[in-house]
Amino acid sequence: MTTLTFLAAPGGALRGRLCLPGDKSISHRAIMFGALAEGVTTMTGFLEGEDCLATLRAFRAMGVRIDGPERGRVAVHGVGLHGLRAPPGPLDMGNSGTSMRLMSGILAGQSFDTVLTGDASLTRRPMRRVTEPLTRMGACIETTATGSAPLRIRGGRRLTGIDYLLPMASAQVKSCLLLAGLYAQGTTRITEPAPTRDHTERMLAGFGYALHREGERTVALAGGGRLTGTAIDVPADISSAAFFLVGASLAPGSDLLLEHVGVNPTRTGVIDILRLMGADIELLNPRLAGGEPVADLRVRHAPLHGIRIPANLVPLAIDEFPALFVAAACAEGVTVLTGAEELRVKESDRIQVMADGLTALGVAAEPTPDGLVIQGGALAGGTVDSHGDHRVAMSFAMAAVRADGPIAIRDCANVDTSFPGFVTLARTAGLTIQEQETA
Ligand code: S3P
Repeated sequence: MTTLTFLAAPGGALRGRLCLPGDKSISHRAIMFGALAEGVTTMTGFLEGEDCLATLRAFRAMGVRIDGPERGRVAVHGVGLHGLRAPPGPLDMGNSGTSMRLMSGILAGQSFDTVLTGDASLTRRPMRRVTEPLTRMGACIETTATGSAPLRIRGGRRLTGIDYLLPMASAQVKSCLLLAGLYAQGTTRITEPAPTRDHTERMLAGFGYALHREGERTVALAGGGRLTGTAIDVPADISSAAFFLVGASLAPGSDLLLEHVGVNPTRTGVIDILRLMGADIELLNPRLAGGEPVADLRVRHAPLHGIRIPANLVPLAIDEFPALFVAAACAEGVTVLTGAEELRVKESDRIQVMADGLTALGVAAEPTPDGLVIQGGALAGGTVDSHGDHRVAMSFAMAAVRADGPIAIRDCANVDTSFPGFVTLARTAGLTIQEQETA
């Protein structure tokens, strides 16, 4: 078995204009809603990363005709809510938690049985957070003894809407239950402990499905309606932009423009946190693209200082902490994160894996059960292990701009799950980075 290593040389400034790949959350949902809609859904800017391709292949395996992707263009020929067919075998979700959790909601409402499986990381991640409420709705789903995938989902069950208070702030669980709610009798009402990304809610509206928002934290829908195909313009992913926001903030002489980035307020915690640390980020030309706010982001180098990260921003920046930890490591003073225990069950345990990597680079990083305390300072070169976590890999690549020696990052192949072409784009911007296959 070979593994992909990134070798990032120290220094450099990030400059120019970049067009980043499409939003992962929106791309997954566009395929799912497009498949369940009546009529054709067309999209531009679809993320051709392995995670979203896993979703796309799963719907093809259930009889949905999908043209493309061809340079981000996809056409999904919807089969309606009841038009999916039994797939010939288990559906492999690869590394993608979003595919598995959202699709479990859809599949719980089908007339046929399915099995959802995934790679070593995904089959370790907690799935009871979706199977428990789905079971309350009437679904029949078997997990492993530890509550993980493979998920064996029985078809032919009658689902009933529930009122559910989410035990954790999770857009994946919320979306799973709303998708199951499309198949349920009566109303499915979900309340979240804190606002999380609302792409599902916005997309339901875009597909003409009535959804009721009750205050900031509750959404409800009635089953038995229909979705109508539409056109979707997928903006660039702010989670991919995050690496460049951090890299450019850290590297003296940087001035970077990131074009057409999604700035949905449930996703912009990374901008708020970086600004609190002293970053210079401007939102230019704000506009709406298909129900989602979009802007061009201009980021210039600025000295950063440590902060105590406000609790309300944690769910709004949940995927950006690996990059934010690198920012904190180069900032002046201490940064404290609490209330982020969800980071321990992402593609890797991002608290431990980032603490280990930062420590290997000479930074004092103290993990806590729900966060990390980082003493900013100088960054040495060294070797770190991404543990197959795409966002960890890209975050350490950006750390090189401030390291005093080269950084080697091991196990980087999964960068393709969310950011195909990362190395090429990072080089275009000014990072000196190479890929190496090692035994
Ligand atoms: C996602 C929700 C988040 C996020 C993930 C994508 C989504 O997960 O970490 O990358 O598309 O709904 P949780 O909802 O589990 O926090």
